[in-house]
Amino acid sequence: MADQEFIPVNTPLLDGNEKKYLIECIDTGWVSSEGPFIKRFEEGFAAKMGRKYGVAVSNGSVALDTAAISLDLKPSDEVIMPAFTIICCASAITRVGAVPVLVDADPLTWNMDVSQIEAKITSRTKAIMVVHVYGLPVEMDKVIQLAQKYNLKIIEDAAEQHGQHYKGRPVGSFGDISCFSFYPNKHITTGEGGMIATDDPTLAKRCRALRNLCFRPDRRFVHDELGYNYRMTNIQAALGVAQLERMDEFVAKKRRMGALYNKLLSHVTSIQLGVPRTDYAESIYWVYGVVLKDEVPFDARQAIERLTNAGVGARPFFWCMHEQPVFEKMGMFKNDKYPVGERIARRGFYIPSGLGLSEKQIETAAKRLISILP
Ligand SMILES: Cc1ncc(COP(=O)(O)O)c(C=O)c1O
Repeated sequence: MADQEFIPVNTPLLDGNEKKYLIECIDTGWVSSEGPFIKRFEEGFAAKMGRKYGVAVSNGSVALDTAAISLDLKPSDEVIMPAFTIICCASAITRVGAVPVLVDADPLTWNMDVSQIEAKITSRTKAIMVVHVYGLPVEMDKVIQLAQKYNLKIIEDAAEQHGQHYKGRPVGSFGDISCFSFYPNKHITTGEGGMIATDDPTLAKRCRALRNLCFRPDRRFVHDELGYNYRMTNIQAALGVAQLERMDEFVAKKRRMGALYNKLLSHVTSIQLGVPRTDYAESIYWVYGVVLKDEVPFDARQAIERLTNAGVGARPFFWCMHEQPVFEKMGMFKNDKYPVGERIARRGFYIPSGLGLSEKQIETAAKRLISILP
């Protein structure tokens, strides 16, 4: 609609020390990955997540790739992970030749249903990959108990939930290796960027080598292993340091935004909202997701089209791994069925959730959402 303000799905907030630190990069000439903001960001972020080591990389997807390589997963090793997630989780496992084994989502939290994990454990299982999606963390007690019982590693994808806590402990502190993204829709952003966090010095060293072409420390340009250039620049880390200074403020703002949407939408019977809190966490509302109930005669794609026409940016939920054409072509997940994931992928979408959103924009987005529903 030409005459009304379009409300974008995401707008980051960059009005702290970002500009000052970026100018510092330019004035000092430190623009590559060698600059001092990298160490500051790695140390500051790791400390905030309750971890000993942080390894900054160029995005969250390569953080997962690097983590999978660093764990020395072998072909035919199995990794249990959610069906309902973003593809880079499964591609990280697949690219090292290991086998992703899926579990369905929980219908209320939309996270992996941890009660389905144990039945999928075999003698080949080496790890559980947890992915905290949208607002609430995965129920970690059960995952930790299974990892201990069967001697499995935990790979934690906390890309969407920096600043979240599970029973008071930072999300991102649960994995043998944990990964984060700093894409602009995340709670803190570096434009593009990612981080690997761990308490294991050997894993941290390995990830540092892998992100930088595996140069031999004693002889540059000599390599015992094939690495990658997954380095973050000092410019990105400068943004990260400035954003990290405000992370708690951002998380509090996200929760206020989520509470306002809840207030405006909780009476709408044709949509399911996210769970605001459980006994282990309060939602962090990374994005504000809704799922169309069965009585709504259209799906998420049509809802997004209607919303776009009404001046509201919206995005679909993830599309499950077992329904990805690329994995079908590779002969993976044949005959797998995950009814909850399949349903929420078809019926779920998220509405404007960026930190730059005003209360008035939230009110307008909610009003327009209600107007497109039957
Ligand atoms: C759960 C999850 N993992 C990984 C990623 C990948 O992060 P990036 O976009 O930085 O590669 C995302 C991105 O949104 C994500 O939501």
